[in-house]
Amino acid sequence: MAEHPPYPVGLRLTGRRVVVLGGGQVAQRRLPALIKAGADVHLVSPEATPSVEAMADAGEITWHRRPYAEGDLADAWYALIATSDPDANTAASAEAEAHRVWCVRSDDADRATAWTPATGHSEGVTVAVLTTDARGRDPRHTAAVRDAVVEGLRDGTLVAPHFRTRTAGVALVGGGPGDPDLITVRGRRLLAEADVVIADRLGPRDLLAELPPHVEVIDAAKIPYGRFMAQEAINNALIEHAKRGRSVVRLKGGDPYVFGRGMEELHALTEAGIPCTVVPGISSSISVPGAAGIPVTHRGVAHEFTVVSGHVAPDDERSLVDWPSLAKLTGTLVILMGVDKIGRIAETLVAHGKSPDTPVALVQEGTTSSQRRVDATLATVAETVVAQDVKPPAVIVVGDVVAVGPDGTAA
Ligand SMILES: C[S@@+](CC[C@H](N)C(=O)[O-])C[C@H]1O[C@@H](n2cnc3c(N)ncnc32)[C@H](O)[C@@H]1O
Repeated sequence: MAEHPPYPVGLRLTGRRVVVLGGGQVAQRRLPALIKAGADVHLVSPEATPSVEAMADAGEITWHRRPYAEGDLADAWYALIATSDPDANTAASAEAEAHRVWCVRSDDADRATAWTPATGHSEGVTVAVLTTDARGRDPRHTAAVRDAVVEGLRDGTLVAPHFRTRTAGVALVGGGPGDPDLITVRGRRLLAEADVVIADRLGPRDLLAELPPHVEVIDAAKIPYGRFMAQEAINNALIEHAKRGRSVVRLKGGDPYVFGRGMEELHALTEAGIPCTVVPGISSSISVPGAAGIPVTHRGVAHEFTVVSGHVAPDDERSLVDWPSLAKLTGTLVILMGVDKIGRIAETLVAHGKSPDTPVALVQEGTTSSQRRVDATLATVAETVVAQDVKPPAVIVVGDVVAVGPDGTAA
């Protein structure tokens, strides 16, 4: 039977009767896809795993609690035979053949009339990988090929442009804290499909080097802004490129909505009638402390964390941060853009009740090869920053979590 390769096909099973014999691990693995395909699934089995039982309880399948009996496959369009009883499998297989029901057998691929491919999904496409010969069947190989294709499509290393669905517009992509592996799969795919990338100084700069030569990469800091504010000039550049019918990625550090001015860009694009999609990113506020071994919360130590901008000093009238109230919180304080003002910030926190001995860590260029952690206390942080020459970008963490080491002891 296996002299010829199988003929690949996609079964459209919505509302069609599919019979599954055996409620063990094989059924557990295959049932979700059958349910997703909308099949009218009938499970025939005296027993089932708890997960399969839950599918029956949820009404996703109909469970007949008994062993296979002749006639079970009569009205089926498709069958999966996976009982632990070889005789029942053989009898069911013969019945499937007699009724011309395509049938998968978990115990004997050679005798099956259908094989289940290794499948994966990416952006509206199903990738299904089949072996060509039952004797040479190696499920790990087909799964590995499937993984390679799906992962490649997801992370953009395998580029398949969307000729029909791709529309000009802008994607505001959160690039994560800097390590190129810490962008989302969606962000990476959009980056791989872009015609133009407008990138910030922070974020995964290494990914830009991987872009094909036709992609125009623009450094956001270098966009000339003449009589415009820098942000307005960036907004205009996004709009202009999109209006020329190009796919534009605005690659931002961390998450676009955490001190990232993402909503301002979205507003400008919406006003100009440009389609815009926003892709979240891993914010430095959590990931950079984490990369330096600091959890922003820890059981028994901190039940909250607050992320604030330190770009203006506490006594600056433009500050929207209620520093006296923050001084009273017991949890973790995460300060972004605060290196220049940390002296005034520490003074204010102590003046409003925070202990001068509160641990502080500054993590510079987190998740990159230049990552560096400098420890201090609220009392010493101002002089430490100068003495150790700490420079932005850095995330500053204030609180007892700083002293929690990876082994659960003080660092
Ligand atoms: C304008 S804010 C943008 C934050 C970004 N949207 C996010 O979610 O991470 C820039 C600040 O983020 C922090 N930051 C971003 N990436 C960093 C990194 N890799 N290491 C240390 N700090 C970083 C610094 O405090 C920096 O001044």
